[in-house]
Amino acid sequence: MGCINLAEIIVNGGKRLSGEIAVQGAKNSVLPVLAGAVLCDGECVIHNCPDLSDVQTSIKILQNFGAKVTYNNKTVTVDCRSISYYEIPESLMREMRSSVVFLGGILGRMKRAVISSPGGCELGPRPIDLHLSALKKLGVEITEEHGFLNCNAENGLLGCEIHLTFPSVGATENIILTAATAKGVTVIHNAAKEPEISDLADFLNSAGARIYGSGSDTVYIHGVDKLHGTTHTIIPDRIVATTYMSAAAVTGGEVTLTNIMPSHMVSILHTFRESGCDISVKGKSLKITSPKRLYRVPTIRSLVYPAFPTDAGPLLIAMLATAQGTTVFVENIFENRFRFINELNRLGANIKTEGKVAVIEGVKSLSGAKCVCPDLRGGAALVVASLVARGESEITNISHINRGYDNIVGVLASVGADINVKE
Ligand code: EPZ
Repeated sequence: MGCINLAEIIVNGGKRLSGEIAVQGAKNSVLPVLAGAVLCDGECVIHNCPDLSDVQTSIKILQNFGAKVTYNNKTVTVDCRSISYYEIPESLMREMRSSVVFLGGILGRMKRAVISSPGGCELGPRPIDLHLSALKKLGVEITEEHGFLNCNAENGLLGCEIHLTFPSVGATENIILTAATAKGVTVIHNAAKEPEISDLADFLNSAGARIYGSGSDTVYIHGVDKLHGTTHTIIPDRIVATTYMSAAAVTGGEVTLTNIMPSHMVSILHTFRESGCDISVKGKSLKITSPKRLYRVPTIRSLVYPAFPTDAGPLLIAMLATAQGTTVFVENIFENRFRFINELNRLGANIKTEGKVAVIEGVKSLSGAKCVCPDLRGGAALVVASLVARGESEITNISHINRGYDNIVGVLASVGADINVKE
């Protein structure tokens, strides 16, 4: 468990947001790219890395392997040439469930890995069966005892055809990382197509890997003997961009976002337009202008990329809590995605959930209250809703938010929100 963060976010709602925000780099790209650096026989310089607790945890994992890592002004410099260890300590696995993505990197480098079985997370069980069955096909022997997974590939890694029964993001990343220096060719069928997969492939290819088809459902990895050091800039975070758009929209505001990739957000932008927002896109920036009151969006379904992403669900639900009419949200990826909704209803929202469906009946206004973050995106959703709630809201358990947002309080204050952190 990370240190218990007793700070809380205090918001006085009702301020219309306006101004400009430069969006941070993508958390879900930094993590697999740092895992890829483990494969490189040279120094890697990675730019546009947001200052997040998940990034700090990843750096601790690399240092635990024996790598030299520095973080300075959004740039991580990592040299893995002196790596001699291959275990991810249980404490770090528990701190960050997505540590499992380091499995492929350390296996590819050391041909050994020891990780503790990742527990579930706030979003549900989140097993790793797809990861493990793929690694076994690549030649990894995996034994489980006392809650630890012992992975051994000392007989070598051999490329093969892998069919994913579900296009798992993490499993696709682990297969790419393990296969990059395996013997022969690996083909992933039904691969995840998220932009973060392509960013990982671009990073690895810049270090000498031979990966083709990333971003499509079939990825080809021609194993190479070794990778060299490289320099890479992380893509923008499409979910953080969505968060700030929701904040602008819920307050009837007008905000320009810079350093984004609109092509990564097509389904998200469509949903904002359906709610009555005007979105004008120009290169790597967009301007969102919101109506005084949003319209409901009849139905939103979360599915794998390029459909509407599950991580954006909580932000849109919070934004539409005060819209005109009723929105139906169907969550198709994670079981426990709706844990934040009870907290949202404490702010005066009128949302009912039944299994994977949430029915959001728009109310005229919300009123400030004390609420507790249950997870990363649910916590961000509570912040979005509190921006339009009358009076003061206190949001606690904000260590969840710090995992994925680089200075969300400072960013929102810079465009007019009355928000601060109380230690
Ligand atoms: C990645 O998680 C992201 N995390 C998640 O973002 C994101 O919500 C998710 O992809 C879907 O887009 C990172 O990239 C670090 P999955 P991941 O494997 O890789 C099931 C955030 O808020 N599954 O595509 O864990 C699993 O239980 C986080 O930034 C298996 O059953 O997602 C889930 O229901 C939250 N067996 C579904 O697939 C497996 O072996 C999606 O999982 C793997 C996954």
